[in-house]
Amino acid sequence: MKKILFAASEGVPFIKTGGLADVVGSLPKCIDREYFDVRVILPKYTCMKQEMKDKLEYVTHFYMDFNWTDAYVGVLKAVVDGIQYYFIDNEGYFGGFKPYGDNALFEIEKYAFFSKAVLSVLPIIDFRPDLIHCHDWQTGLVPVYLKERFQGNDFFRGIKSVITIHNLKFQGKWDPKVVQNITGLPQYYFTPDKLEAYKDANLLKGGIVFADAVTTVSDTYAEEIKTKFYGEGLEGLLKARSGDLRGIVNGIDYEEFNPETDKYIVKNYNAVNFRKEKVKNKRALQEELGLTVDERKMMIGVVSRLTDQKGFDLIAYVMDELCRDDIQLVILGTGEERYENMFRHFDWKYGDKVSANIFYSEELSHKIYASCDAFLMPSLFEPCGLSQLMSLRYGTVPIVRETGGLKDTVQPYNEYESKGTGFSFANYNAHEMLASIRYAEQIYYDKKREWNKIVDRAMAADFSWEVSAKKYQEMYDWLIGY
Ligand code: ADP
Ligand code: GLC
Repeated sequence: MKKILFAASEGVPFIKTGGLADVVGSLPKCIDREYFDVRVILPKYTCMKQEMKDKLEYVTHFYMDFNWTDAYVGVLKAVVDGIQYYFIDNEGYFGGFKPYGDNALFEIEKYAFFSKAVLSVLPIIDFRPDLIHCHDWQTGLVPVYLKERFQGNDFFRGIKSVITIHNLKFQGKWDPKVVQNITGLPQYYFTPDKLEAYKDANLLKGGIVFADAVTTVSDTYAEEIKTKFYGEGLEGLLKARSGDLRGIVNGIDYEEFNPETDKYIVKNYNAVNFRKEKVKNKRALQEELGLTVDERKMMIGVVSRLTDQKGFDLIAYVMDELCRDDIQLVILGTGEERYENMFRHFDWKYGDKVSANIFYSEELSHKIYASCDAFLMPSLFEPCGLSQLMSLRYGTVPIVRETGGLKDTVQPYNEYESKGTGFSFANYNAHEMLASIRYAEQIYYDKKREWNKIVDRAMAADFSWEVSAKKYQEMYDWLIGY
C-alpha cells in the first residue's frame, strides 16, 4: 500500500475559502483505496465551525524549534468519509477570525511553521508517507525542509514530494533575511536558483524548485503559466521545469453537488426532468431574494470571491447596459470592497432585477447553481475554476472567458453543429463579454429548444474525479516506483 499525505491550508468539510478546499476535500476520496492510503493534514483554525471542531480528537503535543523558540505543536485527528485527517494546533498562529489574515509577514511565519510541523509530526504519529502532496505557497516549504534537513534522518530519506499550483498569483514573498531568520534555513538557500526571486524569498518558488514534480489544475493553465502574462514572474522557472510540470484538470464531488439529492434546494431534479422541475427552484429563489417572480425571466448567477482575478472589472464596465436587458442577476460573494460596493449599488438601483448577497453561504450557493439559467465567470485568469463545473452539473449554462480551466471545461455553443455546453469569449474586453451574454439571451428567449439541448449536454458532461484521480495515481506510481 502506497502512503500519500496531502498537506494544505484548507479543506472541506473543515475549512473553506475557495476551490482549493473543494479539491483537498474531494480528491482523496476518489483515489483508489486498494492501492493508496491517502491522509490529509491541515491547520486547526480556531474559526472552524464548532460542529467540526467537536469531531477532532487530541492525539499529542510536542515542542518544535521554530523562529528562535520552542513552539507548541498540538496534534489532533478525525476520520471523515473513511479519510484520516490530522490537524496542527497552535492558537498563536491559527487563532484568527478567518484562515488568512492581511499581514503578509505573519502569513509567511504561520505557514512556515505549518510546513515544518507537517514534517516534524510524522515520526510522532508514526506515519511515513511515500509522498507528500503539497498545495499552493502555504506548503511550499515542505519540499524545501524535506530536502534540507529532514532527509538526513532515516525516517524521511526517500520521501517524495509534489506541489500543485492552484493559483500562481499568491507566492508568499518577503525579505530574504527575515525569512531566513524565521525558517532557520541556511543562507545559501536564498539564491536565485533556490528560494530567491527578484530579491525576495519566495515560498512557492521554493516548492517548485525542490518538489519532485509540479502540477497545476488544467492543461491550458499549465501552458499559460510559462508565458509572461500569466507567469507572475515565475514563467522562466516553470519553463525550465516543464518536463516535470503537468496539468490535471480538477473534478468536483459528485455526491455533494448533485441536483437529484441536494438538500439545500427546493426541488430536486435530474437530466431527464429538468425542463419541468428546475424552474421551481428559480421561482423559490426569486421569492426568497425579492426579485420579480416570473419563471420566464432569464436568471444569471455569480458565486465568487470578489477579486480582480474573476473579471469583475468587465462586469462593472457594462453593468448598466446589462441591467437594461430582460434578465435577472444574482450575486453571491465577498472580497474587495470596491466590488462589494459596486454590486450593492446595482442592487439598490435595480432592486427587482439584481440581488447582491455579500456574504458566504454554502446553502445559497447551491440554490444559485440550481436556480439560475446561466452562470457568469469572465475571469482574467482561472487555473481551473470549479463554479463552472458545479453549474454544468446543475444544468446552468456557463458564460465564460476562454482562459485556463474555463477553456478546457466549457465547450462553446455552436448553433450550426448543435454542439457546446456554454458560451465563451476570447479577449478580456467588456463588450465582448456583453456580446456573449446577449447571444445567450437570444438563444434562451428565441430558441428555447436549442437552449434545452445545451442544458442536456451540460448535464451529460462528466467532471467527476474519475479520470483526473487516475492521472494523479499514475503520477504517484511514477514517482514512488511501481
Ligand atoms: P477560487 O478557488 O478561485 O475561488 P473556484 O471556482 O475554483 O474559484 O472555487 C470557488 C469555490 O468557492 C466554489 O465551490 C464556490 O461555490 C465557492 N464560493 C465562492 N464564494 C462563495 C460564497 N460567497 N459563498 C459560498 N460559496 C462560495
Ligand atoms: C484556485 C483557483 C481556481 C481553482 C482552485 C482549485 O483557487 O483560483 O481556479 O479551481 O484553486 O484548484
